[in-house]
Amino acid sequence: MSEPPDAADARIVEQQISYYRARAPEYDEWFFRHGRHDRGIEWNRAWFSEVEEVREELSRFHPAGEVLELACGTGLWTEQLARYADHITAVDASPEVLKLNRDRLRDERVRFVRADMFGWRPDVAYDVVFFGFWLSHVPPERFEEFWGLVGSTLKPGGRVFFVDSLRAETPAEKNRRSAPEDHMILRKLNDGREFRIVKVFHDPEELSSRLHGLGWNVRVCTTENHLLYGFGEPSPRGRDSTATSS
Ligand SMILES: C[S@@+](CC[C@H](N)C(=O)[O-])C[C@H]1O[C@@H](n2cnc3c(N)ncnc32)[C@H](O)[C@@H]1O
Repeated sequence: MSEPPDAADARIVEQQISYYRARAPEYDEWFFRHGRHDRGIEWNRAWFSEVEEVREELSRFHPAGEVLELACGTGLWTEQLARYADHITAVDASPEVLKLNRDRLRDERVRFVRADMFGWRPDVAYDVVFFGFWLSHVPPERFEEFWGLVGSTLKPGGRVFFVDSLRAETPAEKNRRSAPEDHMILRKLNDGREFRIVKVFHDPEELSSRLHGLGWNVRVCTTENHLLYGFGEPSPRGRDSTATSS
């Protein structure tokens, strides 16, 4: 007997949380291209240079004031945000990454909140909301709900910035191309444990037009090989009632 869609959806969200809790101590190895994530000198060089490009874009965007970071992880982007923000609220479902983040930042201006984003509601409004390598893990059925949450966190005049993977990196992600509508992939930890999680590689143009339909003025850009990023704000005209969203 197959599972009802809501139960399956809740299970996927739980599975992702379990995966990132277990992955916490080794998460940064991926970002810094250590161990099995080392893809060779040229590949790594392009990766770091493109990460730097996005950091520079973030600097021009200037995430000042009260900043909310969703799915903050171990603090790789929190420390960038801390260069511009007055205060940061950093939300994540994993206590393990929150501890690593707190230890990395050691900054009293950062408030850490442990919460499952799907169900969490902000208690104050923010000037900026940021999320790094998170949008690709939002189950497609929850895309609209997620952007509703993002909108609900902002003050009038508030802005959003996000960065994510542009395309498949691992063989598991690449093999899935044969079934592009299947957004589930298998991820392994260093000790061999396996988890199935969501990974959606958003097409930049499609993402931009979908967000436009949901009432956002967001510019979606890419670096040469690896990264997709976007920034903007809610459209003053609000949601486009003629647009459809899948
Ligand atoms: C790919 S990591 C990105 C971390 C960080 N933003 C970065 O770029 O380094 C995804 C993060 O989302 C968190 N996460 C997963 N599911 C979540 C959920 N339902 N609610 C809140 N956080 C969640 C994980 O714990 C993990 O820290």
